[in-house]
Amino acid sequence: MSDAPTNERPRVFVARRIPDAGLEPILAACAADVWEDELPPPREELLRRVAGCSGLLALLTDRVDDELLDAAGPRLRVVSNYAVGYDNVDVAACTRRGIPVGNTPGALTETTADLAWALLMAAARRVAEGDRYVRAGRWRTWGPRLLLGSDVHGATLGIVGFGRIGQAVARRAAGFGMTVLYWSRTRAAPGVERSLGATYVELGELLARSDLVSLHVSLNEGTRHLIDAAALVRMRPTAVLVNTARGPVVDQAALAEALREGTIAAAALDVTDPEPIAPDDPLLSLDNCLVVPHIASASYATRDRMAELAAANLLAGVRGERLPNPVNPEAYDARPDS
Ligand code: DGY
Repeated sequence: MSDAPTNERPRVFVARRIPDAGLEPILAACAADVWEDELPPPREELLRRVAGCSGLLALLTDRVDDELLDAAGPRLRVVSNYAVGYDNVDVAACTRRGIPVGNTPGALTETTADLAWALLMAAARRVAEGDRYVRAGRWRTWGPRLLLGSDVHGATLGIVGFGRIGQAVARRAAGFGMTVLYWSRTRAAPGVERSLGATYVELGELLARSDLVSLHVSLNEGTRHLIDAAALVRMRPTAVLVNTARGPVVDQAALAEALREGTIAAAALDVTDPEPIAPDDPLLSLDNCLVVPHIASASYATRDRMAELAAANLLAGVRGERLPNPVNPEAYDARPDS
């Protein structure tokens, strides 16, 4: 047991047990309160635990807003999100208080693109349905019409959102001889388009032309329900929709209707709205909808890298140093003492 008084070390709240690659440096440098439960801390508990802390390591399940910042009090110097997405954080509220918010960009790009591909292929080729079919004892013989799906090779892939992850998905398409279309708020540089063989088109055209549509936008007011009933109607009846971005980017009720009516052929979702999806959600009753529990970044190596980055952001923040990955660098100008 160390004699060092813990009150000399910065107090931080870590909202879940993250991999040791990140937890160990935090425990070594801070008086850390780690939430050990599998489920997120209930709101009241979160508000209680952050009180007086210098740093908060949050997960995408923890809402960070004015109420939480008030509960934390004036000592809070950093919010480090263990994710690349940060729609759970009211960044403007943090900025107003001069609190930098960190995220984990880059760490999970390739791993997320891998899962987007796994879902594209699984949905197009009905892998999950096939597995259920076998387990149910229904496999009687090889059949000429058994579980027919769509080819992935040579198909047209539409990528919605062309940041790091969207581009990593495009890179993999080359091996499948695909036509790659993309739509993004910001058009990629000509060199990027050329090297990935990707063509920029408007969203409506992308939806109408693509056999497979993969979503990679961040969630904000401009992208909430970006894929609604009107968007789904523009898609091909043979099309497959994959969402590894955020659940609310898709209007889930409209998607269920489109899958039921054959407006599109299939969907595969890593993310839902809400999470977890309700057990009685209509999507779960549809054979042409595959749902996995938000695991796009869930490889051992990637979760370690995310933990390292989240720890680096947290530790820099409590030491008053610049975060390696601040999402709101403008917070440094807004510091009350700057
Ligand atoms: C993220 O980082 O935003 C993912 O959704 C979880 O890893």
